[in-house]
Amino acid sequence: MLDKTTETPSAARIAANESSESLSGPFPVAENYDRYFASHLYDRRYPRPNPASLAVIVEQIRARGGRVLDFGCGNGRYAAPLLAQTEATIVAYDISREAIDELSARYPAQVADGRLRPVWGDLAALSRTTMAQGEPFDLAIMMFGVLGHIASRTQRRETLATIHQLLRPGGRLIVTVPNAARRFRRHQAEAQPLMEKGVLEPGDIHYQRMAGQVMVKMYYHLYSLEEFGMELERQGFRLIQMGAESFLPESGVVRSPFLRGLDRLLAIFAPLRYAYGFLAVAETAPEANSPVDRSHGAG
Ligand SMILES: C[S@@+](CC[C@H](N)C(=O)[O-])C[C@H]1O[C@@H](n2cnc3c(N)ncnc32)[C@H](O)[C@@H]1O
Repeated sequence: MLDKTTETPSAARIAANESSESLSGPFPVAENYDRYFASHLYDRRYPRPNPASLAVIVEQIRARGGRVLDFGCGNGRYAAPLLAQTEATIVAYDISREAIDELSARYPAQVADGRLRPVWGDLAALSRTTMAQGEPFDLAIMMFGVLGHIASRTQRRETLATIHQLLRPGGRLIVTVPNAARRFRRHQAEAQPLMEKGVLEPGDIHYQRMAGQVMVKMYYHLYSLEEFGMELERQGFRLIQMGAESFLPESGVVRSPFLRGLDRLLAIFAPLRYAYGFLAVAETAPEANSPVDRSHGAG
């Protein structure tokens, strides 16, 4: 079952968004991801999950339980192999209606038997749906830049706090973010004037790319290793593991076996600060209201 459905067809919705842009500013993330997924460029660039990240998720599900929230699931790059390789039941949530429509259309059997529950909407819609089902999650995943696309530090904190509430005591979050030291250096320089005017916060950028015939415009927050760990701890998560999502660009790692092999070698030898993206595994306190251990876990 898809929660919060509307009958709006994709093409009409995307056309309507052209005019809504002037009202909501030039970087409405949901609409831009609608265009990105509808153009199929996303699938061509990222046709499968990062195998190293997928392995971390599968290991956590097998060790700790299979009620999974895939937050910012896109059209199912991680949800699909998790359904195939594990017994997990997955609530797959995204603000892009196009992403949720594509996911629902690709896996109708899993939607029908209840193993996959696509949810489209805002944080309130997610909370309503998941509270209604009663059981908290064993694991939440936010894969490949989802957190970084949430504009403003306040909203990222609110999002992490909501995820924390939806996890069981001792539940875990696997989250990846882009490394500011490696990504979008030119855009970071271009963001300086907007930062001085108070429009952007440190680490924020705007960027755009063509997706087929349409322009996709994005807001992105890029992280330092320190900020990433601190933000998780601030919302009550204890850091269990911090590593690289990849050292080479994700699009290369997921498409080329050679680059994948090279990337794993780099993961052994290269300092973490040179990673393309960081991957953290973090845990809620074992019992609700128990104090958070502020010491960092394993590296
Ligand atoms: C780079 S894609 C990653 C998609 C998927 N996790 C993957 O690895 O292929 C980022 C996704 O985050 C979603 N997203 C951005 N902001 C969001 C928010 N505030 N709430 C939920 N999803 C969001 C976008 O719609 C998009 O599907």
